[in-house]
Amino acid sequence: MRIISAKDYSDVSQKAADLIAAQVLLKPDCVLGLATGSSPEGTYAELVRKYEAGELDFSQVRTVNLDEYVGLPVTHDQSYRYFMNNHLFDHVNIDKANTNVPNGMEPDEKQECARYEALIAALGGIDLQLLGLGPNGHVGFNEPCGEFIAETHKVQLTETTIRANSRFFASENDVPRYAYTMGIRGILQAKRLVLVANGAKKAQAVKDAFFGPITPKVPGSILQLHPDCTIVADEEALSLVKDLL
Ligand code: GLP
Repeated sequence: MRIISAKDYSDVSQKAADLIAAQVLLKPDCVLGLATGSSPEGTYAELVRKYEAGELDFSQVRTVNLDEYVGLPVTHDQSYRYFMNNHLFDHVNIDKANTNVPNGMEPDEKQECARYEALIAALGGIDLQLLGLGPNGHVGFNEPCGEFIAETHKVQLTETTIRANSRFFASENDVPRYAYTMGIRGILQAKRLVLVANGAKKAQAVKDAFFGPITPKVPGSILQLHPDCTIVADEEALSLVKDLL
């Protein structure tokens, strides 16, 4: 695990975008695993800027997203498909047919999870997976629980996550209670991981996940076992571990 210390959010975003850009330059038809949430928004803005400057070509890139709320149609402005279109796909030359997000409107969870697992396998695995970190240490929507769940699954969101994500909805009641998420195996099998974290609200989660024991109670802690995991975090997010770096 390597930690890149960034000055602030803008610096986190630029550095993470540089790592993704390097991946696309090295392998133009790479498979990018993508994440949502506020943390990677700046990274996507920077990738769009690089594309507009003629520095990046997404025409052959394939993508697979970590997760999606169950029950939100793609037209809902808080669905993760909408987020991806809005923050990245609509602004670069990617073929939307090559972009994948779990289908939150599929009521048959077994079918949807099996479809997603098969899809990742058919893509030949993920070259670079971008990740955020939930305030409770979740990655994707792998919530704290008694065991790591390997495969894509339907998850009941914890109260902490519902409260944290309610800032994007009219009220806490409007936050979906369930999501589909890639499991821990799918994330760990990515060849390279890049996790972005910023702000004091992430400091405890960063400490618990990357400087504490590996436990399913802090799902992000499993990333300590990945052979090529890069954390890009700003000073505030690293404030509780600065003496350990
Ligand atoms: C969301 C997403 C995660 C994301 C996390 C942190 O619930 N499912 O993929 O990393 O929460 O979000 P944020 O970056 O907005 O703090």
